[in-house]
Amino acid sequence: MSMTSSSLAKVCVMGWPISHSRSPLIHNFWIRQYGIKDALYERLAVAPEDLAETLRNLNDLGFIGANVTVPHKEEVFKTLMRHDALSARLKAVNTIVTTAQGLEGRNTDGYGFMANLKDRAPGWHANTGPAVMLGAGGAARAVAASLEEAGATELRIVNRTPARAEALVHDLGLKRTHVFTWEHMNEALRGANLLVNTTTLGMKGERDLEIDLSPLPASALVTDIVYTPLETGLLKDARARGLKVVDGLGMLLHQAVPGFEAWFGVRPQVTPELRALVLADMGITEDKV
Ligand code: ATR
Repeated sequence: MSMTSSSLAKVCVMGWPISHSRSPLIHNFWIRQYGIKDALYERLAVAPEDLAETLRNLNDLGFIGANVTVPHKEEVFKTLMRHDALSARLKAVNTIVTTAQGLEGRNTDGYGFMANLKDRAPGWHANTGPAVMLGAGGAARAVAASLEEAGATELRIVNRTPARAEALVHDLGLKRTHVFTWEHMNEALRGANLLVNTTTLGMKGERDLEIDLSPLPASALVTDIVYTPLETGLLKDARARGLKVVDGLGMLLHQAVPGFEAWFGVRPQVTPELRALVLADMGITEDKV
């Protein structure tokens, strides 16, 4: 039997819109760095009505895998037949791998979140206290599951719409959780060892989170999954109070690691050089956080 398919191993990131995605920058950097032959990572603009057909034809289009971003993560989960345990639990897919049995959906967002904290705050450990998570949207699900997995003693979810936080707890079957409304923020922050923002507040064009951080212990770590701007208002306030802070860019970099390894067989490193490359693309030359 002769192989007729192209020898070019292509991977794409599919989203709608997709022009702002920095995944091609990250993966093509690694493709060059590790000398992966005949490989290419590209953007693929996929409108919602074209998603099912694109998935059906993914391999025929020459792709050995893909990343999935807004707004397709949940729909890809529903469309694919196979998933790893975590993406099945989250009901969302950010990484697609071709296996002997066909396309498999995975989710590496929570991995990226925890790997970023390990990398940038190595002295901090999830299992030393309660974690406070602001938000209960799509991104929050991956973060919540990863905090539970890392052994957070308690997860306190603060959300504008408490019912949405309750649904998150229920859907993921999370134990040791408490849901707070925004008005009870002080109570939630007391004694916590982590504060993470997963809401869209603080993002360029949105208003800032305005939180009184004084109830947080001095040992608490503050992080944001928003990375545009790199230093959100929340991180700035935390830094001014002398708290440890970790920005959200590393989550983007680290979530890419398991996908690259699955597609190309090399576990890539998140290095200062890669971070500088992405920062430069964002127009940032001084890495102050
Ligand atoms: P993502 O998939 O990026 O997490 P999302 O699913 O739209 O985005 O979730 C956005 C999160 O930001 C939610 O927790 C949302 O709170 P609600 O569940 O109450 O909607 C939160 N959020 C967005 N705008 C907000 C605002 N102005 N004030 C408070 N929370 C806000």
